[in-house]
Amino acid sequence: MPTDTEELVYRLRNARTLVALTGSGMSAASGIPTFRGDDGLWRNFRAEELATPEAFAHDPRTVWEWYDWRRTAIANAQPNAAHAVLAAWSRRPGFTLITQNVDGLHERAGTANVIRFHGSIWELRCAAECGAPPWEDHTAPMASLPPTCPSCEGIARPGVVWFGENIDPDVLERSSQAAAAADVFLSIGTSSLVFPAAGLLHHAKRNGAFTVEINPGATDVSRVVDLPIAAPAEDALSMLDARVKMG
Ligand code: OAD
Repeated sequence: MPTDTEELVYRLRNARTLVALTGSGMSAASGIPTFRGDDGLWRNFRAEELATPEAFAHDPRTVWEWYDWRRTAIANAQPNAAHAVLAAWSRRPGFTLITQNVDGLHERAGTANVIRFHGSIWELRCAAECGAPPWEDHTAPMASLPPTCPSCEGIARPGVVWFGENIDPDVLERSSQAAAAADVFLSIGTSSLVFPAAGLLHHAKRNGAFTVEINPGATDVSRVVDLPIAAPAEDALSMLDARVKMG
């Protein structure tokens, strides 16, 4: 095992604060396509046709058909070994998980202290902002599309962040604070192309975190981190967990 990995194992054992930022590569082993991989969701669909407020205003049914297809695929998937390791680590004090994933697999694996940076595909809200609070809906496939707001009976929208929309200020603040306080910051299964999520690693590094990337492919941050681990999340996290436990 390379010395660098030994150092990470040591740091993982001794970190007072540990932050993991996850992206769609985390759920690849669960059979859910990433956004920008060979089978990626954005290869077959144009983002601006589906994941923008303008697309939804223009054709809510088509946008909902795409979300309903994804919800059904996710409902039939299971959390994988990588989710299980982070769920186990989330039991320690000082752990924060920031996920760009809207699939809810971290929560299904039993992870504590999850910040949903891009929202949740299982949350719906009124598109007309009638004042109804957001609600959970786990039906997949949905009975009729588009679904409606229980309060005003207008069209409902998925509770996710679309291109051109801002991250919830409270979510951004909590994420920034966790990143700044991190002793160890792990960036897992993300292309690090989408901001502001991708900025969290730089923020952590500037504030003294030991930074690690786990990704079988190279990204813009592979040369920035203290330790790049070029392996799938499910393999790398299982290996690290076994080493951390070995004591
Ligand atoms: P991407 O599709 O951009 O990147 C997925 C990354 O996962 C790639 O760098 C792959 O190399 C890596 N990967 C593939 N299999 C892996 C595995 N088994 N283990 C670890 N890594 C693996 O997805 P994200 O970075 O999540 O935003 O995309 C970020 C955001 O762009 C998403 O949250 C979504 C999308 O547009 C919104 O919808 C707002």
